[in-house]
Amino acid sequence: ADLTTRNTFGVRARTPLLVEVDDASALPRLFADGIVDITDPALLVLGGGSNVLFVGDAPGPVLSLTAQNVESGEGDGDALVVRAAAGVPWHAFVMHTLSLGLCGLENLALIPGTVGAAPIQNIGAYGVEVREHVHAVEAFDRGENRMRRLAPGECAFAYRDSVFKHDPARFVVTAVEFALSRTPRLRLDYAGIGAELAAMGVADPRAADVADAVIRIRRRKLPDPARVGNAGSFFKNPIVPAAQADALLAAHPRLPVFPVAAFPADAAAHGQAGGAMRKLSAAWLIDACGWKGHRDGDAGVSPDHALVLVNHGGASGAQLLALARAISASVRERFGVALEPEPRIVGARW
Ligand code: FAD
Ligand code: EPU
Repeated sequence: ADLTTRNTFGVRARTPLLVEVDDASALPRLFADGIVDITDPALLVLGGGSNVLFVGDAPGPVLSLTAQNVESGEGDGDALVVRAAAGVPWHAFVMHTLSLGLCGLENLALIPGTVGAAPIQNIGAYGVEVREHVHAVEAFDRGENRMRRLAPGECAFAYRDSVFKHDPARFVVTAVEFALSRTPRLRLDYAGIGAELAAMGVADPRAADVADAVIRIRRRKLPDPARVGNAGSFFKNPIVPAAQADALLAAHPRLPVFPVAAFPADAAAHGQAGGAMRKLSAAWLIDACGWKGHRDGDAGVSPDHALVLVNHGGASGAQLLALARAISASVRERFGVALEPEPRIVGARW
């Protein structure tokens, strides 16, 4: 089957077998009957394809979960659990929860992709990470050959990371339960949201207004994959020891440096238990190396955002990967900072 329209980079790719599963309870039988080999490391679970780069064809079967059901829990209290199947489109889900008067996901509006992929890299934007609202992740564990319900503490969530991203051959996420609230606890700390609300003429924002502000900012900053192929940020913002960040800042006073204090678990995840870490702006580092708007044939860097690689039409995954490697090498040479790709690279090693 063709995957070209199933990845937002729009690169040509095929799979020998595309399996669409509408009812996740059929997964154990799918594996038991050997339709898909449960141990096949090349098996790829694909959502909206907005965080993958196919370098050539998918080497194995592709599993797509298509169930769309959403169930809100009972209760008149403040907190409510809403469960959504993996195949539900993320942005539509965010808008649905807001229309029910449920708050928490407003800063994560307009992120492409599916509910099932949200916990994979612990999607985040505008000062919020989805882990703050994950109540449980329902997944088929290919290692243990059974359905499981993982509590947030079992998911090893960190900045753009989780147990699911770490061990991609193990879990098929089938549904996610979110803990939402009827009382808004608005998070307006991220630069730009306050100014956007002011520009919208909103003085006393509701959660839906915050979503609107985020949508407006994102539409200005990020290329629309429907018009030009891309996967959002191609690199993670690098997390480095505070001393390294201080030295870089002394040499480059305009480099944006952010604290990484919000989640104590992150320090351990980055192997620096207790040591102070800082997050650097990958976009700034790449921009400073002169890459913004660069183009090698149809593989390019967005002229609007240095962190976004774009496919101007006919770029192959291999061309985009070569460009990403050249960018990363130049940032390493100039600043001594290693960049790590954010999307899943299928068919090649970083
Ligand atoms: P896919 O691209 O299909 O898959 C991504 C990875 O998750 C793959 O490794 C895949 O195997 C795995 N996966 C997907 N579904 C499942 C499942 N059910 N079970 C197990 N594994 C699964 N991300 C952010 O965090 N913040 C942003 O602000 C943001 N902005 C973006 C803006 C644009 C314009 C674009 C194109 C992307 C952006 N992204 C952002 C990246 C992307 O939208 C998210 O990572 C999203 O969660 C990917 O969802 P998907 O369904 O498209 O996943
Ligand atoms: N900047 C530049 N040049 C550019 C663009 C940005 O120097 O071309 C600098 C600016 O100083 C700007 C700073 O980089 O203030 C940060 O830019 P931005 O606010 O766009 O955020 P980001 O760090 O580039 C991250 C996420 C995005 C998320 C936004 C908003 C990562 C890897 N990316 O981008 O997530 O939407 O913050 O919260 O953490 C994604 O993961 O795909 C994604 C789009």
